[in-house]
Parts: sequence; structure tokens; C-alpha cells
Amino acid sequence: MNYQEAYKKLEKYGQQHVLQYYEELGEEEREALLTQIEQTDFDVLSLCEKKETLNPRGKIEPIKVMELPEIEAKKEEYTKIGLEAIRAGKVGAVLLAGGMGTRLGSDAPKGVYNIGLTKDVFIFQRLIENLLDVVRQAEAWIPLYVMTSDKNHDTTVNFFEEKQYFGYNADYVTFFMQDMAPAADYSGKVYLETKYKMSTSPNGNGGWFLSMMKWGVADQIKQAGVEWLNVFAVDNVLQRIADPCFVGATIATDSAVGAKVVAKTAPDEKVGAMCLEDGKPSIVEYYDMTPELMEAKTKDGKPAYNFGVILNYLFRVKDLVEIVEKKLPLHIVEKKIPYLNGAGEPVKPEEPNGYKFEQLVLDMIHELSSCLPYEVVRNREFAPIKNKTGVDSVESARELCKENGIEL
Ligand code: UTP
Repeated sequence: MNYQEAYKKLEKYGQQHVLQYYEELGEEEREALLTQIEQTDFDVLSLCEKKETLNPRGKIEPIKVMELPEIEAKKEEYTKIGLEAIRAGKVGAVLLAGGMGTRLGSDAPKGVYNIGLTKDVFIFQRLIENLLDVVRQAEAWIPLYVMTSDKNHDTTVNFFEEKQYFGYNADYVTFFMQDMAPAADYSGKVYLETKYKMSTSPNGNGGWFLSMMKWGVADQIKQAGVEWLNVFAVDNVLQRIADPCFVGATIATDSAVGAKVVAKTAPDEKVGAMCLEDGKPSIVEYYDMTPELMEAKTKDGKPAYNFGVILNYLFRVKDLVEIVEKKLPLHIVEKKIPYLNGAGEPVKPEEPNGYKFEQLVLDMIHELSSCLPYEVVRNREFAPIKNKTGVDSVESARELCKENGIEL
């Protein structure tokens, strides 16, 4: 793309300021900027104007959850089915590690964060150790696919290599990268990160399977005979991965997807709750929980939307292939976005200063015909690290690790 073509494309979206430093740039920088303009989808920026009406909700109703007593009663049967599937190489795990972790405030990928007190305990290490528990139980390696982004790919890969994969078999670990989306100020004008680069952010965790396809990883999965993919977040250090009982329950109930859930601590807790939406499985985000939904009760008097998702889903690969072409809703999220100020100097904001655009893995659930919400014991499996202190923080996760006998 040449300067004129780039200008024309930007003009269409009212983003000509992106070329304001063009005259000052060297040949390579010009080339890089023009290529970025060519590859960027500016359509998403126009969504800022209709932010409030972007994703209207359908009719929300309660969904049946497989609760702890039911799971306990069938534990042996489900575990056997799960272990068989793992041993047959039908189960893979997908670590979503492309996020920026801005709330934690570290520039490094979240997984390299050290939560240890008397020794090193990196977040990635905790996850690998949890996965190794299942590898030992099943006596079989589980393929692990790690999604990174342009912002953290090299650091992540180098870290795994430097730490010798924390004892995991490197032959079973594959990295792939997600796409980026432009990040804009509150009026929808894309920020500049440098004079020759627009600010970008990873485009959310919803594009993970599409990115796997782009990177040829989906073909690799097909050839290897993987039928189920357990997708999980980087930041839950108690995350049980490829949990045989969960895998077995999802297979035995012939569900298109299994979703681990925990009992909410309060009706207004900030987690997405499992539900039916227009008769299909879905997740109602905490900000969409109306007072009526919070107060709604089941026939036996229990809160109707009492189970929150913890970003641990088991997807059936054949269903993913079918839904991948469907356009997932875009979410506009307020974030702290590094930018160039009017004087052309880089600024790292302390507070959110604009929007990034994301597709979310939870929206994939609504595309599927069936879902098994599967309850897990909250204090044993849910220790998310979003913030440095307070709720869902390094501090709270350390407490939960201690409670579970994990030395830090
Ligand atoms: P979060 O919603 O906590 O987002 O991600 P984040 O970007 O990591 O953190 P903040 O909001 O900036 O503090 C939930 C999970 O989804 C992954 C994250 O790495 C985490 O495992 N994720 C998120 C991606 O893989 N890609 C993304 O674009 C966003």
C-alpha cells in the first residue's frame, strides 16, 4: 500500500492523524506504518458510537447445573471415561495467555509473574504443575497449546525454554499467536504508540480457535486425533486442567461443551453467570444482571443464577469447526492504552484512557446447542490473579494456595 492509498483508507474512517508524522519518518518506518494501515480493520472503531446498544440480550432463563453431589455420586464412572479419552490422545489443553494483564500492572506476560514467597513460583509453573498431576494420573502426555500475542510471544516462548518447560515434555507444547486490534481514545480515534505505529491490543480471547486455524495448529490437532480442547485462563493458579472427571462428565452427557462453574459468593458478584438465552446456553455478564435476575429463585427457592464461570471450558473440536465462521459479538472494553501526546512524547497512563475491542470465548458457548455447567469447589479450583492487591489478587491467590497445601 502506498501513501495515497493509506490516506484514502484512513480518510474513510476519519483517522488521517495516523499519518501526521509521516514526513519525519525513515524509509523502514514508513514501510512499517503503511503495512500496518493496510492490515488493520478500522471498522471496529465505528462501534464506539453505538456502544450502548451493541449486544442486545435475549430472554434469560435458568440452566440446569451439574452440582457437587451429583458429580460425587458418579465420580468414578466419569473419571474412568475421562482418563480413557486422555490416554487415547483425544484431549488437548489450550492456555489463553495472550492478554495484557493491565490490572496486574506488570509489563511482562502474566504467566511469568512470581507469586512465590520463600522460593520461585511462577504462574506458568503453577499451571504446568497442575497439568502434570493429570499426566501422572493418566500416564500420558496431554498436548498443550499456548496462545500468545504480538506483545508477549517471544518473552513467553523464551521463558518456557529457559525454565525447561517446568518439567513438561516440550514435544507436546505448541505456541501460536492471536490477532491484534486497534486501540482508540473515547471518541474512536486510534492512538499512536510511536510515530510509525498505531496502538494495538490483543483482540480478546474469543478468536483462539480461528488463530489456531491460521497457524496450522488446528490441522495438527485433527491429524493427532484430538477431539476435545480444554481452554483455560492463565491467571487462575488453582486451575485444574484436563480434569478427568470433568472430561468424562462432558463426554458422558454428550454435551457440545463443558463449563466449570463455582457457586457465586453474592448475587451481584462480578462473574458471568451461566444461563439459557433464547433457549440456548449462554453467560450473562455481571453488568447485565438486572435486580430481577439477581433476586430470581428456582422452584426449590435457590438463587436461579447462582453459578459463575471461571474460564475453564471443554470444547468438542467438531463443533468448533462448525461455529468458527460465525461472527462473535465485539465487546468494547475500557483500558489503559500507552500513546503519544500532542508533543509526540510517549505516555503510559495511570487510568483507563480509551477503548480496546475484544471477542470473548464465553460468547462461543451461545453458538453451541448444549452445554454442561459443571460445579467445582470454589476454594479448591478458583484463585484468579487479576489485581496486585485486594479482590482476585496476588494476595488472595496466595492465601488460597496455602489453604490447598501449595508451598510458596
Ligand atoms: P482478562 O479478561 O483478565 O484480560 O483475560 P487481560 O487482558 O489478561 O487482563 P487485564 O484486563 O488487562 O487486566 C482472561 C484470560 O484471557 C486471556 C488472558 O491472558 C487470560 O488468560 N486473554 C485475554 C487472551 O488470551 N487474549 C486477549 O486478547 C485477552
